[in-house]
Amino acid sequence: ISEPDNMATRASPESHEGDIDLGPELKPPEAQRFKNDILGGVGVAPKPIVLFGEGNFTFTIALASIRDDWSSGKISPDYGIKATCWHVERPEFADARKEAEEYCIVNGEKMGLSTKDIRINTTKVSKVCNFSDTWQDGVTALKVAKDLVAGKVVWFQCPWSDTSSRTTAVLIQCFMKHMAKKQDIDNILVIGISTHEDYIEKYKLENILGERPGETVIYGYKYLGYDKNIIKLILQRGYKHVGYKEMHEKIIATHLTLVFRREDDVSDPTKIMDRLEGLDKKMDGLGLKEKAKAKP
Ligand SMILES: C[S@@+](CC[C@H](N)C(=O)[O-])C[C@H]1O[C@@H](n2cnc3c(N)ncnc32)[C@H](O)[C@@H]1O
Repeated sequence: ISEPDNMATRASPESHEGDIDLGPELKPPEAQRFKNDILGGVGVAPKPIVLFGEGNFTFTIALASIRDDWSSGKISPDYGIKATCWHVERPEFADARKEAEEYCIVNGEKMGLSTKDIRINTTKVSKVCNFSDTWQDGVTALKVAKDLVAGKVVWFQCPWSDTSSRTTAVLIQCFMKHMAKKQDIDNILVIGISTHEDYIEKYKLENILGERPGETVIYGYKYLGYDKNIIKLILQRGYKHVGYKEMHEKIIATHLTLVFRREDDVSDPTKIMDRLEGLDKKMDGLGLKEKAKAKP
């Protein structure tokens, strides 16, 4: 299957704001592998994926419509997608799909697509079947059962904290730490962000990417790089960002996808520190530290 014409990526995100080092863009073969995992490819089924923090399920429907295309209709009835939301009311499927259809037009025009391509996108989205019985509300990305995510891709699109007791940066770090306990080695974790200057600093990306992005394992994950293409395809299929303020139009050109891979614990320095800390506490509890100090 070649990339359909209407999926050509014509709008490029604005340049990254500020001095934040986002590391390398995903390069082949990782970029191809990522595309296969998310969308499927020639003779390749996309991987099962769990979406966290949905706002209006237009992202879910847009992704389903692309997966359907790329898998030549051979995808399972739920498109291999488990979509979840937190503190958000789950919409009726027909309403969410209608909104995605409308945003094929809004986004397509903004991204410079031809009328014909916009029509193709709208038609594809209108054909997404109702799989909302698999959607789940009340799911926090910070406490999940292992079988929800193990062996799957996890994607948190535009995380933003909905409580004053936790910043968005902390939400992201807690998400990674929690997923590290539940995902299997080699599983992919994705965080969708906006590089708009009003938001990028709030993520405190240095905490999850490190000083030299991609070189270290942080919270159990190796950063593979960013992708700017798949999110554009999702936007063309009607993803409408929901924020606490109306900001879709403001950030449409600045979406970027950060891609991480769960690494073996052996190469994870944070795990070693955790273990040392645990050992220290155990020694303390047994009074062994005092004994060791008392020794000449
Ligand atoms: C800026 S909105 C983005 C919504 C949607 N992902 C989108 O891109 O349109 C941030 C989302 O993060 C979700 N969120 C915040 N804390 C969360 C948590 N602990 N677990 C899951 N989702 C969370 C909110 O419910 C909200 O839907």
